[in-house]
Amino acid sequence: MRIRVHLSSWLAFSGVVLILAALLMLVSDTRTTEAQDATSFVGATHSSPIALNANDSLLAVVNPDVNTVSFFDVGQDRNVLLGEVAVGKEPNGVVLSPDGKFAYVANTVDGTVSVLQVDASKQPVAAVVATLTVGTEPYGIAITPNGTKIYVTNSRSNSVSVIDTATNTVAKTITNIGPAVGAEPRGIAITNNGNADDTDETVYITHFYAFANQGKLDGEDDSKTGLLTRISTQNDSVAGQIVLTNMADTGFKALGDAINHIEPGKDPRFVTGAYPNQMQAVGIKNGFAYLPNVGASPNGPTRFNVNTQALVHIIDTKTNQDTKLVINLHRAVADQPDGTIKLFLAVPWAIDFKDNEDVGYVISAASNAVVKVAVDPTTGAMTVQTNPQTKAVQTINAGRNPRGIVLNNTDTRAYVMNYISRDVTVIDVTRFPEQVIATMRSSPLPAAGTQEELVQAGKELYNTSVGEFTNSAGNMSAEGWQSCSACHPWGLSDNVVWIFGAGPRRTISQHTDFAGGSMRALNWSAIFDEQQDFELNIRGVSGGAGLLLTADGSALEDIKQISGITIGDPVRLADANSTRPQLQVRTPSGGLVNAWDAIVAYEQTIRTPISPLNGSTDPEIAEGRQIFINNNCQVCHGGPKWTSSVITGPVTDLAQISKGQIIAQLVNVGTFNPDDKNEVRANGKAPLGEDGFVPPSLLAVFMSSPYFHNGSAPSLEAVFGEPFIQHRSAGTGGIDGLTSSDDIRKLVKFLISIDASTEPVNP
Ligand code: HEC
Ligand code: HEC
Repeated sequence: MRIRVHLSSWLAFSGVVLILAALLMLVSDTRTTEAQDATSFVGATHSSPIALNANDSLLAVVNPDVNTVSFFDVGQDRNVLLGEVAVGKEPNGVVLSPDGKFAYVANTVDGTVSVLQVDASKQPVAAVVATLTVGTEPYGIAITPNGTKIYVTNSRSNSVSVIDTATNTVAKTITNIGPAVGAEPRGIAITNNGNADDTDETVYITHFYAFANQGKLDGEDDSKTGLLTRISTQNDSVAGQIVLTNMADTGFKALGDAINHIEPGKDPRFVTGAYPNQMQAVGIKNGFAYLPNVGASPNGPTRFNVNTQALVHIIDTKTNQDTKLVINLHRAVADQPDGTIKLFLAVPWAIDFKDNEDVGYVISAASNAVVKVAVDPTTGAMTVQTNPQTKAVQTINAGRNPRGIVLNNTDTRAYVMNYISRDVTVIDVTRFPEQVIATMRSSPLPAAGTQEELVQAGKELYNTSVGEFTNSAGNMSAEGWQSCSACHPWGLSDNVVWIFGAGPRRTISQHTDFAGGSMRALNWSAIFDEQQDFELNIRGVSGGAGLLLTADGSALEDIKQISGITIGDPVRLADANSTRPQLQVRTPSGGLVNAWDAIVAYEQTIRTPISPLNGSTDPEIAEGRQIFINNNCQVCHGGPKWTSSVITGPVTDLAQISKGQIIAQLVNVGTFNPDDKNEVRANGKAPLGEDGFVPPSLLAVFMSSPYFHNGSAPSLEAVFGEPFIQHRSAGTGGIDGLTSSDDIRKLVKFLISIDASTEPVNP
């Protein structure tokens, strides 16, 4: 964002770039950073958890865990906290009006936008003057260049609210943004043609999750694809959608090809592709839209460098087509010369650009890093910057789990919002290499020794690819490749069907794991009975050194020491990994806690998504509930966690285990079809499934498409479609009680409505 300098928008294209750039720098130098006439932004604007006003003096950052927004005076590098002000529950996005007099905060849990009046000279620095109701779970919020309109993405309700800043009211709600519930509109960027009119711009909106490619079952590297929706600011309606192009070659080769039943060999020689997923943010520069995302490469075998990838997709906003110039940030790291320290750029989450240089910065949320990129103004192509001396990728250390970035209007500073360390990193971007010049606390960390602090440590372990507060590199993944959150954003699911050790498996959200003192049997095939069994994910899937130790407290070298690595091995279940010694990690206050205990403490706090039908009085929901009861769905999906599966501790009785599964937890409802193309294990062999599956929790099931363990039901309606008669009649002893499409429609409505506020149906 930049104060308007009229030449800037076409400057980049002009043949006299150098002369004009020099001129412009002169202008910037003579202008004070606190000009009074800043009534508009010059560059494109975007949604973010951190925002600046147009004259670079006021910075706002949200603190999602403590329901506040913090304001800083950053003019002339004063970098002081002006105050922290309470807003709604779980604020995830903020914008400032160009003049800095108003802040607008998207409160995800409340489904509201707080409007705050800001006065940097007063205490408290801001006061909430209005609270606007928007849709369900707003995340993204972005303001037009002249500050006249604000767009809010209501992720769960698949809509966008448009706020008129003249009246501070919701002027319009644009519904059905994406193809279906679960479309998750999320990141926003708004073009800026440089004039004073905000009704001639385009709003680009990402959809967090990828969509199924027609007729494909997830599990292949090109089975889904990403989508971007365009809204015209003239009439505030959808102007079109852009289908993203998958990456055909990630630059990393696999040892085998599970989908084609080729067992892993010794040499990595199989080309892997990836589709874009988890599109949290978008930025616009030189007429191109850049989408950082976590690429999914679900085909097996699972080896750490061929599952999630660090992609940036590039869209031409003139033609509204994907340029097909997608890059994999991980590849740039892999290409570093031998002997350089490699830090992969896991979970690309946010992006911003300089206004007068073709340079941008991408946030790698899991690797705690900011990476510098250069963009070609003509083609849009992006390249990762390397240090000319070392040829290593140019990264800047941020705080813990950075999630947003904003550059100032004079291209001199970048401000990074760090979610877990609750601070802001201030980077001088005029120097090379860039330098961190300050770190500003935005909100106090949990007090030493409290449960909240244990949760915070676990949250960091879960979200990091590089280590915990002491940065013990290598424990969570190999060279920072990925974090748990790379597949479990917010502890939920990436909705990818990974070809895993037991077969095709859609990632399971973790808000359904625990109920009171018990837990559901873990994984679709009940092959795990303790959270600590996921040590195998750290070591096997992410290539990390892990968190479990041998009995004498030394490092556990061999993964086989934890338990057998062959799926189906009963030894793993009979092990009590939860009683093994664990690596101790340092909390922010300097204390030591057990790593796995911290992860488990965090997992128990994972929030259940809110249904778009939460609070709805539609009578069909109650009718659907009755249909659910009449069909005895509660036999398998009843109780507080909407699943019958429950275990109370490690299963050590071998009689309960068959083929490595806690056999009594499985129910066969006819959903396993060995002929489905994706029914294969990571090693190319026949999958588990003929014994049935653990009944999945139906809590917030509207989020989880595609359905069933292998994604064979693309929608909730399809779960009750023809091929799955056995499942839909399972509770009624084989009598199909769901014959009318009207009943299925009502049942589905009820299913969509299930969230933490729904009274469970007890078996
Ligand atoms: C490459 C993607 C990926 C990564 C990385 C990953 N998971 Fe998962 N997770 C999955 C998939 C897929 C499943 C379902 C597996 C199955 O059913 O066999 C799953 C299932 C789970 C479950 C079972 C939940 C339930 O209720 O059954 C837990 C717990 C879990 N993961 C924790 C973790 C933790 C902790 C980490 C980090 C150490 C992690 N995962 C990393 C993909 C991933
Ligand atoms: C006998 C046990 C049983 C009964 C009764 C039963 N289900 Fe299921 N349900 C399952 C199992 C097991 C699965 C997982 C199958 C798979 O993944 O292949 C499942 C999957 C589902 C899913 C997909 C969830 C997801 O995350 O993919 C939905 C939705 C569902 N059931 C709803 C219902 C409804 C509604 C009823 C009543 C009409 C019902 N089920 C009856 C056992 C049952």
